[in-house]
Amino acid sequence: MKILVVGSGGREHVLVWKLSQSPLVEKVFCAPGNAGTALDAENLNIPADDVMRLAKFAKDNRIDLTVVGPEAPLVAGIVDEFRRKSMNVFGPTAAAARLEGSKVFTKKLLRKANIPTATFAVFSRMPEAMQYLEDCEEQPLVVKADGLAAGKGVFVCANLAEARTAVKSVLQDRTFGEAGSQVVIEECLVGQEASILALVDGDIIVPLDVAQDHKRAYDHDRGPNTGGMGAYCPAPLVTPTIMDEIIRRILIPTIHTMKVEGCPFSGVLYAGIMLTAHGPKVLEYNVRFGDPEAQPVLMRLRSDLAHILFLAATGRLAELESLDWDPRPAVCVVMASEGYPGDYAKGRAITGIQEADALADTKVFHAGTAIRHGEVVNTGGRVLGVTALGDTIAEAKQNAYAAVDKIRWQGGWCRTDISDKALV
Ligand code: AMP
Ligand code: GLY
Repeated sequence: MKILVVGSGGREHVLVWKLSQSPLVEKVFCAPGNAGTALDAENLNIPADDVMRLAKFAKDNRIDLTVVGPEAPLVAGIVDEFRRKSMNVFGPTAAAARLEGSKVFTKKLLRKANIPTATFAVFSRMPEAMQYLEDCEEQPLVVKADGLAAGKGVFVCANLAEARTAVKSVLQDRTFGEAGSQVVIEECLVGQEASILALVDGDIIVPLDVAQDHKRAYDHDRGPNTGGMGAYCPAPLVTPTIMDEIIRRILIPTIHTMKVEGCPFSGVLYAGIMLTAHGPKVLEYNVRFGDPEAQPVLMRLRSDLAHILFLAATGRLAELESLDWDPRPAVCVVMASEGYPGDYAKGRAITGIQEADALADTKVFHAGTAIRHGEVVNTGGRVLGVTALGDTIAEAKQNAYAAVDKIRWQGGWCRTDISDKALV
């Protein structure tokens, strides 16, 4: 098989790395990729959102399977375009990608299917939204822009004043443009969060081992939200009983309802779940592998990823034998640029990646990197996902940080407590 992976982050590096290990795979391309994917695949100078050029490349080069990493091309309809051209592609159609592209769509679907989630209301006009805030007795509240907002459209508001500011920013100031033409105001849920990733082919659901992300920038979950500063897998806080409940009350009714609504879901359904005192509830859906969750999850997967994704993309997941997992846990520590998640400094040379990669059961996945004048430099906010296996979560953590210690660049930093939530 010839495979095209679309995207340029850590998630895409682990996808490329894992796919290229398959005996079924002859060649992997990555568009546009990063300095890490360049080692395991051939990078293409095509942006991830240039659907037409990607489709042309895939057609001209007889690509057997395209795997789409990020949400933006999915929401824009890359899967529809590839299918129109009779090409195999792993991911949801634009209609199904609304599960990530529109929080209003998702909340209404959850309500209709009676799936546990935070209570909510939707507004498109300021006066009604403001009146609703005044009438809300419960605080805090969460305010969300409807559409894609690069992870910045969610405001967890401690009091009424913050909620007013958030609604104004979304609906009136249009900070997120059209993504803010509607706003969701919802109940704030309390508990631990877990990332449930499942492979879906329209009908069949194959849950992957559970991961936990660390969204806040700094240790002990302080500081602003980020794309994710580290993750580990498996996450023992989701017991088999809780997982059964998530499958029964959340994943199955979601996939069933999508089919009934005429937009069957295929690809990765990523449920962001809050484990509340009243059971697991949906915080949000994503329609792709999580980043950084994909790094520890796929590092543990022993089964052939190319085979699995090909079956999913062609509606044949029923043929899949059970997945084979490395029993050892994996921990991924994200190393970030100085200033991230705000403005950050770029173009600084990174040393020590090879030494870190040479450690046993360790892999450095690249995210925001490029090669300049023969050196690896940082080009993004999240730069590397240093991932290691260990006999226990504590050991995997120790191994991941031992690898982090080998890597240096000016201003590079990371959280020091990734996976500690599993140990409490
Ligand atoms: P999202 O962009 O929808 O993934 O939301 C980002 C983060 O905001 C989530 O990972 C949660 O930490 C937080 N969040 C979203 N919705 C809620 C909610 N209803 N209650 C509490 N926290 C929330
Ligand atoms: N790690 C969170 C996400 O991929 O959306």
